[in-house]
Amino acid sequence: MKKLSFVLVILLAFSFFAFAAGGQQGGGAASGGALIGIAMPETHVQRWVKDGNALKAEAEKRGYRAEVQWGNADQTQQNQQIQSFLTQGAKVLVVGCLSDGVGSVIAEAARDKVAVIAYDRIIPNSADYDYYITFNNFKVGQLQAQGIEAALNLASASASAPKYITLFAGSPTDGNSFFFFDGAMSVLNPYIDKGVLKVVGPYPKTSADTANFQRIATENWFPAVAKTRMENLLNADARNVTLDAILSPNDTLARAIIEACRADAKYRTKLPVVTGQDAEFDSAMSIKNGEQYMTVFKDTAKLSEAAILLADQIVKGQAPNIPGAVLASGDLAKIGDTGKKVVKTYLLDPISVTKSNLNVPVDAGFYEDAQASQLR
Ligand code: BGC
Repeated sequence: MKKLSFVLVILLAFSFFAFAAGGQQGGGAASGGALIGIAMPETHVQRWVKDGNALKAEAEKRGYRAEVQWGNADQTQQNQQIQSFLTQGAKVLVVGCLSDGVGSVIAEAARDKVAVIAYDRIIPNSADYDYYITFNNFKVGQLQAQGIEAALNLASASASAPKYITLFAGSPTDGNSFFFFDGAMSVLNPYIDKGVLKVVGPYPKTSADTANFQRIATENWFPAVAKTRMENLLNADARNVTLDAILSPNDTLARAIIEACRADAKYRTKLPVVTGQDAEFDSAMSIKNGEQYMTVFKDTAKLSEAAILLADQIVKGQAPNIPGAVLASGDLAKIGDTGKKVVKTYLLDPISVTKSNLNVPVDAGFYEDAQASQLR
């Protein structure tokens, strides 16, 4: 009898372990334990810290292992980080790249059959991946320019009393910079053509004017670069006019530009209308205090959630279905053109935020509680 119960216990134990292992294996095939490598570009722009952490948390929520690294605005460093994800056997890479210099490690990932999702920024000049998830970046630029259009009441401006604007663009190594700029200029060019808006400093009509675009671009999105350029402008081309607006492609640069303006007596009491992007807390405060004019809110919590959902569907061999995102088509398909291939591109919607609707990112839970209470 004793022997029988011993055998029974052993049998039970075996079937339990077999069940547990089977369960785990089932989970493993579905998702469990596979590694997602998350490569983010930089930390000097606040959003990426948040993006990296959110992506990791989302991946873990879905039963993956996840590792996140920030590239410190250095492509060589980011390539080493991605290489290490590959060495560790990552199944999926989520990459917010710095430049097309990432191409060699993306090619390696393709050889290893590792799925790559370009995150927020396209991976340019590569045919070695299939998916891209981002915001409608052309619309981001349109929203910035529409902010200027409304604030300066350009529709009623006349050529005899024109408004003055200076143009800034993001990093020329970041594919997004071209869309932000072209979106903005699609709104501003008609006013410039009519002579009611005058550009102070270089004027690329579109990003295709490479020489002038380079002059207004901001290498690596470094705020110090934008600040110096603004200071130089204030002492040269903008010396004898009062600027009404400055097109700034994001919040980090907007605050640097505002700092430069503040040091100029002309703008001490009234700043030009300065645009931004990312709804960073510091800029939201600046908007609340009547300094920066607007920002573009891109809900990166939703972007990271959608990116990990996409990763999960790819791993499980399911056809991607991303609620809240539209598959880029028609004119917007350009956003997913790497130069070597058009990748499947999912777009989320950006929202314009001024002082009058600062509650939108706050209510979306975009800020920590202590920050949110300062913004209410
Ligand atoms: C992102 C922006 C960000 C910028 C600088 C762009 O690619 O879309 O949200 O402000 O990079 O990091």
